[in-house]
Amino acid sequence: MWDALKTAAEAGRDRSILDLFDADADRAEAFSVTALDLLFDYSKTQIDTATRDVLIALARAAYVEARRDSMFSGTKINDTEGRAVLHTALRNLDGDPVMVDGQDVIPGVLDTLARMETVANDVRASDFTDVVNIGIGGSDLGPAMAYLALAPYCDGPRCHFVSNVDAADIADTLRGCDPEKTLFIVASKTFTTIETMTNARTARAWLQEHGVSTDGRFIALSSNADAASEWGIPSERVLGFEDWVGGRYSMWGPIGLSLMIAIGPDAFKAFLRGGQAMDRHFRSAALHENMPVMLALVGIWHNQGLGHATRAVLPYDNRLSRLPAYLQQLEMESNGKSVAMDGTSLTVHSGPVVWGEPGTNGQHAFYQLIHQGTRVIPCEFMVAAEGHEADLRHHHELLIANCLAQSEALLRGRSLDEARAIMAKKGLTGDELERQARHRVFPGNRPSTTLMMPKLTPEVLGQIIALYEHRVFVEGVILGINSFDQWGVELGKELATSLGPLVSGDAPADDKDGSTQALLGYVKRYS
Ligand code: F6P
Repeated sequence: MWDALKTAAEAGRDRSILDLFDADADRAEAFSVTALDLLFDYSKTQIDTATRDVLIALARAAYVEARRDSMFSGTKINDTEGRAVLHTALRNLDGDPVMVDGQDVIPGVLDTLARMETVANDVRASDFTDVVNIGIGGSDLGPAMAYLALAPYCDGPRCHFVSNVDAADIADTLRGCDPEKTLFIVASKTFTTIETMTNARTARAWLQEHGVSTDGRFIALSSNADAASEWGIPSERVLGFEDWVGGRYSMWGPIGLSLMIAIGPDAFKAFLRGGQAMDRHFRSAALHENMPVMLALVGIWHNQGLGHATRAVLPYDNRLSRLPAYLQQLEMESNGKSVAMDGTSLTVHSGPVVWGEPGTNGQHAFYQLIHQGTRVIPCEFMVAAEGHEADLRHHHELLIANCLAQSEALLRGRSLDEARAIMAKKGLTGDELERQARHRVFPGNRPSTTLMMPKLTPEVLGQIIALYEHRVFVEGVILGINSFDQWGVELGKELATSLGPLVSGDAPADDKDGSTQALLGYVKRYS
């Protein structure tokens, strides 16, 4: 099934995107998808009608629709862990039944949501001024990203997110907190993650050092209620979720508690409704009008088709500053795998490297390479038609203008003749004109997509996050991999555990490689 993509890529690699626009006055509309509040424009890519047909055939050949239906219906599609994949159930606000092992899981989901609301309302009405979420990876990035994204809607206590085992993280956070008025949320699906448990113990010691009782100052968000209660958090203060919610897909449920406390239950439910609306779209729209499917197919085209190893996510929204980090985990932990579901090796590349920063800051940092470097980096721009600072509309107009200018510059580039004309106007001639002109050439014909939204509200953020989740799912299905396990993080964890005593004690490091022994020696000399 990859042969057709290979052939299409050979034909399309050098296709002029500007020529595609010249040949089709309706290209912008024909190569865009509108769904809910969002517009996804992929017309500034080399994809033409024939390429799109190939990509859609690829999705069909991988049975994307059938796999999608299996996921939503609770089939155990995470088959290296024997689990269903039902983060979508967490935003199923209408209560439609979803069966796992013969049992409807939705009453439990709604019950937990109601408990979250009670807890959130209590905390919002209490004297707590600061809430510290202690978690890492999927137990941190979602709420941390959304807390910043939805700052205009935050009217609860301040929230902080401590994730790193580096003491600097918790020390810097606690320095600004009053022990009497700080609530800790220990967010860990497994309740065994070493970073989180170390930070949680430090938080507990901090309260004790200040003579403050830990009673009523800890909440646990976990699938492992036993471990939480063993740690000292009673079951009535544990909000649980099932093993069918993967860590990086978990912000819709209890892991989102800090966000709910910050923005209030109603705004949190608007976020869920946004995600649920995207689920409905994903389940019902035809493939070529299906936003997650087309976003995935554009990704497959650029990475597995044309061989572009990275993609930049460039939100023109300062409040989406953590979105690239969130998407890094979502995409790279899900689709960074070399083995297909059936145990065979992939014959194409796995998911791409995802990276990015908000515009316009990135423009003054790394866009140089995007415009004139030797490698092509497909860019995914996103921007809202309206900002929240209505009285500063001119800022937002500049923001939009910059976003559109970047995709236009990537598309058009600047030819050598144009560069020569600019240098001639400056009075240069001869070899110097030629030399200087060459530095000012932009190759152009570089692909980008743009996701437009009306305004970054809780509901729109829900649509965007669910859109990307389903994109990752579709890409994973086409690659034939399991997007819902993460065995690749285990080895490092095991080795860190074995290295701990070598760092802190005098245990011999004879079985370590020469480099590791030398680095340990350096630590011993200076610590
Ligand atoms: O190490 C990877 C990982 O398992 C992620 O998948 C997960 O989001 C993170 O660690 C945190 O895990 P937990 O919520 O169990 O502490």
